[in-house]
Amino acid sequence: MDLRNRTLCASGFHSPQRGTIDILEDALIAIGDDGRIEAIHRPGEPNYRSIRDAREETGELVTLAAGSYLLPGFVDLHVHAPQYPQLGSALDVPLEVWLRAHTFPLEARYQDVAFARRSYGLLVEDLLANGTTTALYFATIHQEATRVLVDTCLEKGQRALIGKVAMDNVDECPEDYRDASAEAALEGTRALIDYVRSHPDNDDSRVLPVVTPRFIPSCTDATLEGLGAIARECGCHVQTHCSESDWAHGYALSRYGATDTEMLDRFGLLGRRTVLAHANFLTADDMEKIGERGAAIAHCPLSNAYFSNAVFPLRAALEKGLHVGLGTDISGGPSASMLENCRGAVQVSRMLESGVDPTIPQESRGAKDPARIDFKDAFYIATAGGGVALDLPIGQFAPGFQFDAIVIDTNANNGTIRLWDELDHGDRVLQKIIYCASQANLRSVWVGGNDVV
Ligand code: GUN
Ligand code: FE
Repeated sequence: MDLRNRTLCASGFHSPQRGTIDILEDALIAIGDDGRIEAIHRPGEPNYRSIRDAREETGELVTLAAGSYLLPGFVDLHVHAPQYPQLGSALDVPLEVWLRAHTFPLEARYQDVAFARRSYGLLVEDLLANGTTTALYFATIHQEATRVLVDTCLEKGQRALIGKVAMDNVDECPEDYRDASAEAALEGTRALIDYVRSHPDNDDSRVLPVVTPRFIPSCTDATLEGLGAIARECGCHVQTHCSESDWAHGYALSRYGATDTEMLDRFGLLGRRTVLAHANFLTADDMEKIGERGAAIAHCPLSNAYFSNAVFPLRAALEKGLHVGLGTDISGGPSASMLENCRGAVQVSRMLESGVDPTIPQESRGAKDPARIDFKDAFYIATAGGGVALDLPIGQFAPGFQFDAIVIDTNANNGTIRLWDELDHGDRVLQKIIYCASQANLRSVWVGGNDVV
């Protein structure tokens, strides 16, 4: 049911700050006609009862069933939309081989607009059905197909940030899949920004354009410089890959004698609205610089296991106060589910802390510093952390924030979570949701108060 101009009475969870879970119990969430939260009233407040009765009388009150829990919708901070057809395959070769042998040939197919329409339609529907209310998308180099992704998100109601991929370096990109020149890369970027901003169905900016250099190896200096200028001019978001694997991290060091982070900063591509995917091999200076600029990192734990030769030190980044969100990295990671990526984030952090090679003595097996995170951190980066990373009012329940939300029904017949009244209270319910819930438990998905599933 559409919730604009209605009040939802719900129990649930959100995490406005890292490490804290705010538990809602029969909270009244009033949603305006613009899809934003107008007010939240909790039992115990003096006018709670009268507001509830009044909204019930006018028919504006919608009440969640017992056993159903409201959560913020997930913010997937790193998705390659065109790679959905190879999700769950091609995971057995290193990044630089994977790009050439599998990924560039697949992305080149989006020259065919009919293929793009079919593939993007399925992707957006599946992500919404998994509770992903906002996605930060890499598209392909193609103008037409990327416009199809914009149209698809607007039609289906997903909040999305979308970039035409810029890649023009002849040494690193195949002949049939690269921008013809730096001018073409820049012109295509500008054209997509104009398309998104002037789209007749995008008055409320549900879709935003993103300046998207694929990564430094793919781009010439002229393109990187030009994209930095466009980002400054347009005030757009920026996304790219940063220091992902040994090879990718080593590439900038040998081309410039400097890290990805330093070079992105020099090109004007490191700002408050920049999202760096992976960022596994950051130096201490890189972390410092990212913090100074207010840029964000998209942590992609499942992808790290296949393509990164390392695990991103998430806890260290969070403790430094860096902005971090969670990404599936479809299809570098083999799951489109943010819940599965939450579990992955906890699991890889535990392995990073303890180490994994049983032939090494325990004292020297693991990381030097504590590296583990828990379900609360995973939930935070999957929701509010993603909102902070994008500098958008999403990912938490507070007045002024968009009502982007999902319902987990713990009583779903074919669901994968079971609760015991005698045992499961407070944030333990959320813990079980994060560890056990699946698509079968997902009941409703709203973006800006609109029912989208
Ligand atoms: N680096 C450059 N392109 C890609 C990509 O498509 N996926 C991942 N994981 N890393 C990249
Ligand atoms: Fe990626």
